[in-house]
Amino acid sequence: MSTVLVPGGAGYIGSHTVVELAKAGYDVVIVDNFYNSKPEVLNRLEKITGRRFPFYEIDCCDKEKLRTVFEENKIDAIIHFAGLKAVGESVSIPLTYYRNNLTSLINTVELAGEYKADKFVFSSSATVYGMSEDVPFTEESPLGMCTNPYGWTKWMIEQILRDYSVSNPDMKICLLRYFNPVGAHESGLIGEDPRGIPNNLFPYISKVAGGTLEKLTVFGDDYDTPDGTCIRDYIHVTDLGSGHVKAIEYLDSHDEKVCVFNLGTGRGTSVKEAVAAFEKACGHEINHVIGPRRPGDIAVSYAATDKAFKELGFKAQYDIDDMCSSCWKWQTMNPDGLPG
Ligand code: NAD
Ligand code: WQD
Repeated sequence: MSTVLVPGGAGYIGSHTVVELAKAGYDVVIVDNFYNSKPEVLNRLEKITGRRFPFYEIDCCDKEKLRTVFEENKIDAIIHFAGLKAVGESVSIPLTYYRNNLTSLINTVELAGEYKADKFVFSSSATVYGMSEDVPFTEESPLGMCTNPYGWTKWMIEQILRDYSVSNPDMKICLLRYFNPVGAHESGLIGEDPRGIPNNLFPYISKVAGGTLEKLTVFGDDYDTPDGTCIRDYIHVTDLGSGHVKAIEYLDSHDEKVCVFNLGTGRGTSVKEAVAAFEKACGHEINHVIGPRRPGDIAVSYAATDKAFKELGFKAQYDIDDMCSSCWKWQTMNPDGLPG
């Protein structure tokens, strides 16, 4: 069975992907510097899968340290999650974002080429579709007009990988553009564990529901949508994990040099609908107020899912109620996140 290297595998999406890779029978090697995750996640992964995965505490920006992973393991494929992802923070410290996200990716792909790990999956984002209002976003939709440095790192890395693929005839690359990943593993043992006050909707609602935060501010109810609040395509993180397994299988069985897939459900949920769904899951009201719009938000974003369905065989299995109930289970079992 082949071995998949997962840089950033201690993080939110990475850890759920590791579970799905293990379920599908892959060997997994994890690299993380714990910048935005905790060592406890490795114990939780062991509880869920019954396996202790080889782990390296390494910053992917340190190429020579990262090389040891390739020296000590025969890596067949890589799923690269190791990046910084907070949109607001990327505006305050743009150079840190460009340095970390680009250097981490360039080092990993360069070593992948050197050690002939020639299947490479990259965590891209719907953010590359920028401020366009032409929904649903298809893989052919225009790119660019990103609203923040974080988004530009995704856009740039997509281009870097396309350029690299031309120079290396053996390398096959899959760009996965995630929509809004939410929810947690059904065990409640792993989930999203942001540092400090969350920026994203679901972690914020969870903390209000759990009583750690007082109230949610809904960012604007005057958008041109049925209830006036923004619409997003929330996708369960376990579905996202299976999407990565499908991507590895796709690269194994196709000769395409670069493939691109949206990973979403194709269904939009408004902020007000998300709050109502979470209230149903937790059994009580979520204290919320309407506030001003958040700069940079677009009214509606959701995925065209036909290509991922037809070519990758990917279809999301979980709905918004599953996303809310798993989030709530994770929140109640880990009110302060993971220890450590
Ligand atoms: P996360 O922060 O939970 O996971 C990223 C992991 O990478 C963390 O454990 C962090 O410690 C690690 N990391 C960061 N820089 C590193 C480096 N230089 N060396 C080693 N490890 C490093 O984030 P996530 O939500 O799991 O996202 C994973 C990837 O998916 C990111 O690249 C993110 O940009 C992308 N993505 C996330 C979302 C989202 O909404 N969560 C949406 C689209 C794309
Ligand atoms: C969702 C909706 C907010 C918080 C972000 C990144 C994107 C991608 C996914 C990585 C919006 C509203 C939020 C709150 C609110 N990440 N909201 N009150 O902005 O769609 O996407 O995560 O690639 O690049 O930008 O997600 O969860 O922040 O917001 O009303 O306290 O919830 O306005 O409409 P977003 P989000």
